[in-house]
Amino acid sequence: MDIKYFDELRAFKIDTSNNSYIMAVVDDENFLGHVYYGPKLSDIPMYMLRINENPYVPSKNNRDRGSFMDTFPTELPGNGLGDYREGAVEIVDKDGHFAVCPTYKDYKIYEGKPELAGLPATFAGADADSKAMTLEITLEDKNVGLEFILRYSVFADSDAIIRSTEVVNVSDASVFIKKAMSFAMDMDAEDYELLTLHGSWARERQMDQRPIGYGKTSVGSVKGESSHQEHPFMALVQKGADQKQGRVYGFNFVYSGNFLAQVEKSQFDSVRVLMGINPTGFKWELKAGDKLQMPEVVSVYSDEGIGRMSRTFHDLYRNHLIRSPYKDKKRPILINNWEATYFQFDTDKLIAIAKEAQKAGIEMLVMDDGWFGHRDDDNSSLGDWYVNEDKLKGGLKYLVDEVNKIGLKFGIWFEPEMISPDSDLYRAHPDWAIAIPGRTPVRSRNQYVLDLSRQEVVDYVFDVVSKVLHSANIEYVKWDMNRQITDLGSYCLGKDNQGELFHRYVLAVYQLQERLIKEFPNLLLENCSGGGARFDPGMLYYGPQIWCSDDTDAIERLGIQEGTALVYPLSSMGAHVSDCPNHTVGRNTPFSTRGNVALAGTFGYELDITKIPQEDRDSIPGQVEMYHKYNPLVRTGDYYRIASYRENHYFDCYGVVSKDKSEALFTFVQVMGRPNYHSRIVRLDGLDPEKKYVVEGEDVSYTGETLMKAGLQIQNLWGDYQSKLIHLIEA
Ligand code: DGJ
Repeated sequence: MDIKYFDELRAFKIDTSNNSYIMAVVDDENFLGHVYYGPKLSDIPMYMLRINENPYVPSKNNRDRGSFMDTFPTELPGNGLGDYREGAVEIVDKDGHFAVCPTYKDYKIYEGKPELAGLPATFAGADADSKAMTLEITLEDKNVGLEFILRYSVFADSDAIIRSTEVVNVSDASVFIKKAMSFAMDMDAEDYELLTLHGSWARERQMDQRPIGYGKTSVGSVKGESSHQEHPFMALVQKGADQKQGRVYGFNFVYSGNFLAQVEKSQFDSVRVLMGINPTGFKWELKAGDKLQMPEVVSVYSDEGIGRMSRTFHDLYRNHLIRSPYKDKKRPILINNWEATYFQFDTDKLIAIAKEAQKAGIEMLVMDDGWFGHRDDDNSSLGDWYVNEDKLKGGLKYLVDEVNKIGLKFGIWFEPEMISPDSDLYRAHPDWAIAIPGRTPVRSRNQYVLDLSRQEVVDYVFDVVSKVLHSANIEYVKWDMNRQITDLGSYCLGKDNQGELFHRYVLAVYQLQERLIKEFPNLLLENCSGGGARFDPGMLYYGPQIWCSDDTDAIERLGIQEGTALVYPLSSMGAHVSDCPNHTVGRNTPFSTRGNVALAGTFGYELDITKIPQEDRDSIPGQVEMYHKYNPLVRTGDYYRIASYRENHYFDCYGVVSKDKSEALFTFVQVMGRPNYHSRIVRLDGLDPEKKYVVEGEDVSYTGETLMKAGLQIQNLWGDYQSKLIHLIEA
């Protein structure tokens, strides 16, 4: 890792172990241009800026200055001054003008990486391998009195580059910021395709790849959260690239609210990449002297295909983003009562589940939705975080103590950001709900969203949640969020500031979770949003795991977990074994396959263990043993995607290889049986070609070279949805 400024060229060069990112200041007007991002270089290819190609010259008042602006690869494109591609910054200045053109002012290079006030951010470690360096470039627009601080950080042990934008008002009047992207880059990208993750409730993060056409292509969210539908991630993938080869640029936004991820292909085949807070619904009043820090973007370049990109994200998040004390620990195997009972449970039922679970080796009981107020369905009580003693006879502490006596830890569900119209809280504070005066607010799942832009509301939420957590020995919280935000209106924000609500809301969620983990430093926090609608790097800064999806069907999970693992480490993916027919899709799958697929995540159960077939119950101790055996490898190893049934329609295969390559676990799922078909040859990946590996349980061993080049032979399994774990140990 290194960051240098080259005076004679006025160029900045950021190096990771394998990649370089280069910018340069040009012309007496100090435009900051993007020179290069890709495999590591020892030179600085200034020609990439094409500043001497007539008529694209930058000189002041030249009649072709507009052509220059519309062509120049700008590091932070402004707006309204001749660059007709979409800008990274939009403002309204004190006179109502929107033109803005940030140009270079100065720079700083220093060791370490600053925190981003109030926002999740990657961080450096103490040892030499995990140290960081940061480059700060300040751009300015003297006309409007704004400065833009671009921060680029790199870590000694990662190829990722982290970037963010801070806007500072150095004028003496308010300026409205309508857009300030965290990341912008112009690159020559004729032969790239766009890879994104799309989805829906119960179908989160499905991979989608398409050619980049002329004009703009974007994904985004305006739902107040990162969303089920689109994901704050995109990758530019060279045509023909695959898991192992080809150039790939991946971008992931460390934020949990509205986002925009966009590419724009210009008339000259260059591509402008933008990523940041979605400008729709955003308008921030930046008062004189104020600063606005935008969230950060992680960019990863790989010239060894998509697989290398994924592994770089995984390591970065495991080493430099997740802070929880659980990040390097095996998580307790939990059993959650949601799919077991939904809202219909009481103390006796939970204790019965706990007793049976303990016999099978399960380590924690999680009580889901329905324990508070008078909530027997989703019509009421959000906000009334006091125990329903009709259901929990003897109270919460009694239940937790009983569960602890049985030998299980105890976890609890909250949905702290919400308020039900039928709640004491709403009757007392109707103005605490987000709403526009005069409009009946839209209900979703029969609930409203709390106006977290009000500090008194945030404090209330924190106090009630922490009171419950202090009242008993609660060691885990599932923090849910079951609706998107509409009716953007706050009774407290002024008319010029309503456009701040979305972002203030997300900042308040971060504040709440930060306070929670400070107050309860040993708490295991699992985030969730109607399944996986807030599975993003922002949330990983607060809790080490996120519920992937309400779809717990093992086959649906293959696609969901494949898309999730494209960016996020397996240690962060909430995955449970549930009952059949599956509650979302009605499919019957073997209990063993449900276990094998959940093993790729945090692992747990979501079923009524007192009611499932005896044969399934009898399989749980074996699965528990398997979790204890394989989880250290799954949590810490390198992930390799071998085959995807999304592409081949028959089988899925992925694996985890230990960092020292002495052990590997591959999971093979035969989604569709095929009649009259011979065995399959599956070429593994990530092994040491020189090492010899024993296939556990089979009396055979092969070199890594054979397993990767020739492949492993897998006999046709009998039936659909069958699966097999292949454990390789160095001989
Ligand atoms: C949505 C979550 O994803 C489920 O697991 C469950 O907690 C429900 N909410 C409860 O309302």
